[in-house]
Amino acid sequence: MRIVMIGSGYVGLVSGACLADFGHHITCVDKSVEKIDALERGEVPIFEPGLDTIIAQNRAAGRLDFSKDLAAPVASADVVFIAVGTPSRRGDGHADLTYVYAAAREIAAAVEGFTVVVTKSTVPVGTGDELERIFRDEFPDKDISVVSNPEFLREGAAITDFKRPDRIVLGTEEPRAIEVMREVYRPLYLNEAPLYFCERRTSELIKYAANAFLAMKITFINEIADLCEQIGADVQKVAKGIGMDKRIGDKFLHAGPGYGGSCFPKDTLALVKTAQDYDSPMRLIETTVAINDNRKRAMGRKVIAACDGTVRGKKIAILGLTFKPNTDDMRDAPSITIVQALLDGGADVHVYDPEGMDAAREVLGPVVYGRDPYEIADGADAVVLITEWDEFRALDFKRLKTLVSQPVLVDLRNIYPIAEVTRHGFSYFAVGKKSGS
Ligand code: UDX
Repeated sequence: MRIVMIGSGYVGLVSGACLADFGHHITCVDKSVEKIDALERGEVPIFEPGLDTIIAQNRAAGRLDFSKDLAAPVASADVVFIAVGTPSRRGDGHADLTYVYAAAREIAAAVEGFTVVVTKSTVPVGTGDELERIFRDEFPDKDISVVSNPEFLREGAAITDFKRPDRIVLGTEEPRAIEVMREVYRPLYLNEAPLYFCERRTSELIKYAANAFLAMKITFINEIADLCEQIGADVQKVAKGIGMDKRIGDKFLHAGPGYGGSCFPKDTLALVKTAQDYDSPMRLIETTVAINDNRKRAMGRKVIAACDGTVRGKKIAILGLTFKPNTDDMRDAPSITIVQALLDGGADVHVYDPEGMDAAREVLGPVVYGRDPYEIADGADAVVLITEWDEFRALDFKRLKTLVSQPVLVDLRNIYPIAEVTRHGFSYFAVGKKSGS
């Protein structure tokens, strides 16, 4: 099959590379000249484990290429995926669909013969209907069917999520489009990944509902963590205890500094706005958004409390900046708010992240960037772990102890047992479990 992916950002590149790996012929298109030039030189503009290898192998096999121009590849395509960005619109939090509609009109002008246009970008309910209207009214002689196919890719695990998905949601009721989409995902279907066909609007809502539910689940355990600290319980054990109930499940119950990233903050906000517009407000999600926003600042206060109530003139070493490990993505990372709170409190903030420092330079205030955990811990009054990168999971506490000015570890991801830290003379502060020294 000939498939075109419009938008070679995170979702477009991962989806394009994986579909090429299934044997389809894929052209990834992007308006950014630098991005396409870099991809053609063999450089991958984002950090995602395994992606560079898949791209290189499929280019070498002649199944994957890149283009700045969409007209030629779209003309010969069976399927065109729209995977352009849908950022939060400035001012009102609605998803900004400018890029989606612009891409759709360019696609419609270029298609020849029956073509399926698929929205992979996260789009508000009704966007597929609007695309259909645009195609019908403005391009009446074109034969296009619009399908919704939301992505559920986690950054850092996107290749596995694409190739071993829990399900593939496909919003269309048109028999010709159903047949084409079955063909696109046939290799996964053979792998027993369920293809779940439903109406287009339902499919669009599934994406928002899934992300909102997961954001709510994280927020729930974060509030339980706060209660644990007050009553002397252990949130990790509570999570395990409730997670063994299959109706609840044990995933997404890690208490921490609050969720961030490119999806949860944006999608929860967009769902709240849509629900308000339809006069069907979602109070649970409104509250989830508010709790999560407050939590990031509260984590700054937690660090200040661990430093005996003030960080003025103190050196704070921050381990991990990205919103989660195995990505270089800083979008809505809790670290941004936490670092700001510490800077506001007069701290001298030193930071280190394995992959996120370039992106961090664009969003963090005046901090000092170090080369590794030990360099920034030198003379520190507290070491604060914000992102659970593997390289922070086995810190050499003996060495750290000789470097720091005050042996204080604030572990916002609960990756250490208290005994392991206090044994080396550190005071330990975690989230929702016992602190001590
Ligand atoms: C998410 C969804 O998982 C994916 O299906 C969707 O399509 C895109 O958004 P992603 O943003 O890459 O993926 O990361 P995810 O692993 O879901 O984590 C999101 C945030 O929640 C991170 O900040 C993470 O640290 C936090 N989180 C996650 C927790 O605090 N606790 C948890 O138990 C799980």
